[in-house]
Amino acid sequence: MTGTPDLALAAEVGVSLEKMQRLAEQTNLPLTSLKHPGVNHLLVQTTRRLELRQLGKGAPGPVFADFVGGKARYRRHQGIGARQPIAKAVGIKSGSLPAIIDATAGLGQDALVLATLGCDVTLIERSPVVAALLSDAIERALAEVETAAIVARMRLVRADACDYLLALEETQRPDVIYLDPMFPGRSKSALTKKAMRLFQQLPGTRENANGLLPIAQQVAARRVVVKRPAKAPWLAEAKPSMAIHSPKMRFDVYLCGGSQ
Ligand SMILES: C[S@@+](CC[C@H](N)C(=O)[O-])C[C@H]1O[C@@H](n2cnc3c(N)ncnc32)[C@H](O)[C@@H]1O
Repeated sequence: MTGTPDLALAAEVGVSLEKMQRLAEQTNLPLTSLKHPGVNHLLVQTTRRLELRQLGKGAPGPVFADFVGGKARYRRHQGIGARQPIAKAVGIKSGSLPAIIDATAGLGQDALVLATLGCDVTLIERSPVVAALLSDAIERALAEVETAAIVARMRLVRADACDYLLALEETQRPDVIYLDPMFPGRSKSALTKKAMRLFQQLPGTRENANGLLPIAQQVAARRVVVKRPAKAPWLAEAKPSMAIHSPKMRFDVYLCGGSQ
């Protein structure tokens, strides 16, 4: 997709022109028709949600962010406890809810878990297309009674995380910076394999995660958490202070500034 006109924006009947103009501006994508798109991938504004579609025979289903139904609803109803590995990794204890920057937000699944646990989470996403999917999911979840209070703790920033973090003032430093870089060939991710495959082709999604780690360590007040597949090597070959294990994933924790 990168460097080729392989992705465009389309709308279902019933979507306002104003909305599409705003989306075209945010994503920098050309508008096309749903019936004759002339591309292999489409970002489609349906009357329900924004979704990324791969076109053609045998293409997988659409990719979208969702904080209300499906897996999000299941997790909400199951209850997310502070004993979960991700909660331990970011340092959630009773009476202590860290402020978190999720510097590689993706479809926001991890950020949603952290916001459900009660943390304020700033989501940074560099890809304009992924950021548009996230923004759509936040908007929809804010309109639902069951999810509005959770999602109100999430703030989306469209930016490169390195630039964003380096521009923060001393008083704006978060307690925790959370990183979930794309890992080639990883078996389990908050992003589904389908989404991963599509995302790897989008402009802005290829990260220099090795470069992000030292910046995050410099900026976080308490810790940096890096999510990795269970058997993956350390990010940037940097040995963490400790690791929290779950069956398929590992959270490498880098304590900062003498914090515990
Ligand atoms: C593996 S995904 C994260 C999945 C996410 N944890 C979730 O729960 O859905 C990595 C995301 O980081 C974004 N990204 C990569 N480098 C970035 C950077 N320097 N700044 C901001 N976002 C970045 C990519 O565009 C991609 O959407």
